[in-house]
Amino acid sequence: MTSVGVVKRAANVLELTLAVIKPDVVAQPLKVQEIKEIILQNNFYFIHSKILTWSKEDAGKFYAEHKGKFFYNRLVGYMTSGPMSAHILARENAIAHWRNLMGPTKVFRARDLAPDSIRARYGLTDTRNATHGSDSPESARREISIFFPEFNMDEWYRNEECNFRNKTCKFCSDKDIHVITDNDGCTS
Ligand code: RTP
Ligand code: MG
Repeated sequence: MTSVGVVKRAANVLELTLAVIKPDVVAQPLKVQEIKEIILQNNFYFIHSKILTWSKEDAGKFYAEHKGKFFYNRLVGYMTSGPMSAHILARENAIAHWRNLMGPTKVFRARDLAPDSIRARYGLTDTRNATHGSDSPESARREISIFFPEFNMDEWYRNEECNFRNKTCKFCSDKDIHVITDNDGCTS
């Protein structure tokens, strides 16, 4: 097992968010690697990771709020066009921080306003904008349950959050997750 990227300990309660690397980027493994490096450099923990491909029904459920909009069919076509790389990330202020790293939804706006952002660097069009991130704690809970139905968020907060916050973790690149590497420090 290869292990890199020891993460700085956090002072406050960790927040979970869903990060998705969209199909056209997943088709280019070097770009996926670069985006994962950006995530690691920003002190996120990878709690769970998976590669999955959506059916049209899956995409319709996830993007129900956009049904009827002019870009809906294009969006569903794009998101079902190949495998995606999905990640539950943990960090202080994870939701806002990941959205800030992604930059504005619209790629041309991102290139203008946030040229170093992920969407500015890896996005191609307003639809093919490289990555997804939850926009609120409620969305994160809903979206994580869609991508990771086997993950119990309440249980994670009860049993695991303090470990990731208080103990030393390392990133295992073969599994795309962080693991705890020491046994001290968790009292709650
Ligand atoms: P996301 O949900 O993917 O993190 O992005 P977001 O909140 O910043 O954007 P949202 O408004 O929720 O849009 C969802 C996804 O739909 C595609 N989109 N295409 N004008 C267009 O063609 C258009 N507008 C939005 C993008 O893939 C966007 O991420
Ligand atoms: Mg959204």
